[in-house]
Amino acid sequence: MLRLKEQRKLTAKRQSASILKRIRDMMRQWLLILGIAVGIVANGQKSVLQGEEHHDWEDNHVLQINRELARAYFIPYGECKGDRMLSLNGEWRFRWTKTPDERIRSFYRVDYDDAHWARLAVPANWEVNGYGTPIYVSAGYPFKIDPPYVTREPKKDWTTYEERNPTGQYRRTFFVPDGWVAITPDGKPSGTVAGNGQTFLRFEGVMSAFYVWVNGHRVGYSQGSMEPSEFNVTPYIKKGENQIAIEVYKYSDGSYLEDQDFWRFGGIHRDVLLYHTPDVRIRDVAVRASMDGVLQINPQFSVYNGETGDGYHLVATLMDGSSIVCCDSVATDEVLDLAHKAARMNEWFPQRGHRKFARMEMHVNHPRLWSVEYPNLYTLLMELKAPDGRTVECVTQQVGFRTIAIKGGQLLINGQPIKIRGVNRHEHDPYTARVMTEERMLQDLRLMKEANINAVRLAHYPNCPRWYELCDSMGMYVMDEADCETHGLRGTLASTPDWGDAFLDRAIRMAERDKNHPSIIFWSLGNESGYGPNQAAMSAWLHEFDPTRPVHYEGAQGDPDPSTVDVISRFYPRVMEEYLNPGIPEGSDKERAENARWERLLEIANRTEDRCTWIGSDGGPRPVLTSEYAHSMGNALGNFKEYWDEINSHPRMLGGFIWDWVDQGIIRDGNVLYGGDFGDKPNLHAFCMNGIVLSDRTLTPKYYEVQAIYGGLSEQEIANKYRETSAAKPKPLKTKAAANSSFFTLHSSLKPQVYRAPTDNDKSFGNWLAKDWKRSGLDTLTIPMTMEQNGNELTFTFDIPDSLPPLPRLGILIELPREYEQLTWYGRGPWDNYPDRKVSCPIGLWKSTVSQQYVHYPRPQDSGNHEDCTYVELRTKKGKRLCIEAVDEPFSFSVLPYSAQYLASKTHDYELVDEGPNTRNSEAKTYLSIDCAVMGLGNSSCGPGVLKRYTIDPSKCHQLKIRISGDSLERISQP
Ligand code: GAL
Repeated sequence: MLRLKEQRKLTAKRQSASILKRIRDMMRQWLLILGIAVGIVANGQKSVLQGEEHHDWEDNHVLQINRELARAYFIPYGECKGDRMLSLNGEWRFRWTKTPDERIRSFYRVDYDDAHWARLAVPANWEVNGYGTPIYVSAGYPFKIDPPYVTREPKKDWTTYEERNPTGQYRRTFFVPDGWVAITPDGKPSGTVAGNGQTFLRFEGVMSAFYVWVNGHRVGYSQGSMEPSEFNVTPYIKKGENQIAIEVYKYSDGSYLEDQDFWRFGGIHRDVLLYHTPDVRIRDVAVRASMDGVLQINPQFSVYNGETGDGYHLVATLMDGSSIVCCDSVATDEVLDLAHKAARMNEWFPQRGHRKFARMEMHVNHPRLWSVEYPNLYTLLMELKAPDGRTVECVTQQVGFRTIAIKGGQLLINGQPIKIRGVNRHEHDPYTARVMTEERMLQDLRLMKEANINAVRLAHYPNCPRWYELCDSMGMYVMDEADCETHGLRGTLASTPDWGDAFLDRAIRMAERDKNHPSIIFWSLGNESGYGPNQAAMSAWLHEFDPTRPVHYEGAQGDPDPSTVDVISRFYPRVMEEYLNPGIPEGSDKERAENARWERLLEIANRTEDRCTWIGSDGGPRPVLTSEYAHSMGNALGNFKEYWDEINSHPRMLGGFIWDWVDQGIIRDGNVLYGGDFGDKPNLHAFCMNGIVLSDRTLTPKYYEVQAIYGGLSEQEIANKYRETSAAKPKPLKTKAAANSSFFTLHSSLKPQVYRAPTDNDKSFGNWLAKDWKRSGLDTLTIPMTMEQNGNELTFTFDIPDSLPPLPRLGILIELPREYEQLTWYGRGPWDNYPDRKVSCPIGLWKSTVSQQYVHYPRPQDSGNHEDCTYVELRTKKGKRLCIEAVDEPFSFSVLPYSAQYLASKTHDYELVDEGPNTRNSEAKTYLSIDCAVMGLGNSSCGPGVLKRYTIDPSKCHQLKIRISGDSLERISQP
């Protein structure tokens, strides 16, 4: 009986399961048909469903759900700043999974028990907090390319094979401040009671797509990692404790527009906050302030709960410190125009022609203008007044009076032509990844100002809002760039109409948020995304939205460059000089990376037929800019001076942005790591280390060269700035042991040397000179050298065999015991310098130690060279000395605790071992190189190579003439 019953139960269960299955199948089919239909209607192309679960985050038509309109950055307040704001930064409950499938779908429910979950701070990136693998991809997407999908199966050895789409679920509670929510008559929570106001939830940046729930209700969805997203949460919040849940996807269809050359980090990397407004509120405000003292203000309002704004008005007061400069007001309902009155619309949004901008306009006599040198700011206080005169809401904006124009091919700020002495900057911190602290931003800006940098390109996305405020107040020109890079797909998406909305969304959200900052002097459409109608649309939108700023985009090139851009922009151009292009006729080859850029800026600047169509121009030619140049990877920044000699030689040459500000290293246990060090695949190794400052902001010799050249400093000024010791030339050392025999024993520990540990530039993409050096065995090669001796004067003559590639150096190497540590020299210093990077290094008498001579770039390579030297002295603690003096011609030298071969054999700085001068290891050496010639550094890691004049001419007879002296030379030579 029992069995029969069980069998019946089972059959019934099976039957109902099969009915359910049939229903599910039918529904699936319907969904599929519906999906195809929707897809066809929506895209005119392909289904967004394709028989699978539909994901908003893999649908380029779903950019947001319930997101508020973009607006200028401000947090409204009542009586004092912050009084209507609640930060949700801090500790959240957190759960991370490698794929969305592993997420807990019901996690947003109020009754979900998260007690066992981990904790994670907001803001924070996951990968530097133990969740998932940081991936450094230069270009080409870390996931399988199949837009808009991001979860298709990639190669099995890729990181995303396992970590297909890391998903972070966040939960926390918060207490709504008093007065934000009322209790309804039936005791139920509601934020929608008239007069009770509105509450908004604001995210400054989440990578890359996310959903939000409040108290179990789904609030909305947003994507776009670098723009803010706001949601009105009024209907969902209640008095007392509230619960919020966020689900973040590392990859989304939006990631197709975020293929920048940087680490791929997921998570909530900027602030999260709530703020409260009245039911009549200031939704937005746009401000224009020009050098003639005209201040125009265009506010927007929103009303809720049946409010109309009638009787409300906005009072705008311009303050200079605490004194009132002027004020104006506007009636809220005039602007709102809920009735859509024809007369009003005709005035403000006419049938033909442009909209009118200034709802309020004030005139300031002789305003103190804003510039990077004098970043004068005024404060605009906007008070929303209720019909009874009460101030119900306040908003402030900083205002800088300045005018941008293009005239005669020059960019003018307040009527004066400027040059861009710029850097590109990624938001990167070696410990916190993309989370920028106030201290880090201040440190960056201070260091930039000290280096005479006057402009920063926000490569390649809108930065965190505080950055702009600091640029406004400290004085820094900003190129604000839309978060739009499709490098791995080249220009495909730019020409796909289906992606137009996604492109435009990013331009609009950038410009809306940042429009009021005087520091921003260009809008940029993004980076390396080809050129097509989608950028043309962005440009048209920006031009119409904001006629006060020119538009930039390096990808807009042609003959002539499209009129959608107002400056001509090129990457990694050449100067008008002959370059070393071993084996490749100029202009012929695109394969070898160092030769991929043939353009010469000055040549472009000399073409006169170009025309600027921007409303702020005189219709003359466009300025010529290099938005990326001087690729500063490792020991680099060759011929920076020559770039600037050219830039200064022609009015149309606007200047450039160095690539880039800071190495993108991740520091773990004190070690600097780069692509591949986390097992991340694919990766582009150390190609993210291109800063003029190291990851932890340690300054490098490149930084000082920038400081000298951007500052236009004379050699004398530089000498006065850095000189720490007297410039007087030292007296040659009186030698105790000058016997001839000692020179012969020294000679036996001295050998010719033509090799240096390849710099990143020597390697380029593994493709340049270093490869030829390896093939020729330069690292172990002894080239023919003769030595003549005349007393303690030695003359070395070198014969460069024809078979050798261009040489990095030509001279001798003397290996000394490591105890030789104290260094004095007369020549260029204090930091290292090369034939094409020495402006910041005046000739003088300098002191240092051997341990300090090496510059710790993340990837070991040559460094420590000093040009134009006539004297070097090395000493031990015990007073032993070796002195080398130039006879006739100065020499170059370096003295390092590492051999060139040793440096070349290592891949990370942390692998280098310097046992120091006190070591008992007799194998440890001090390596003293004296060269009659050294090759320059060039820019080949991503740009043109070395200028011919800074290479070693193989056809010339090279001689090194020196005088050696010292005590105990025998001991030196016999290890
Ligand atoms: C540029 C690109 C930068 C960076 C640089 C190489 O082409 O715009 O984002 O990748 O090359 O370091």
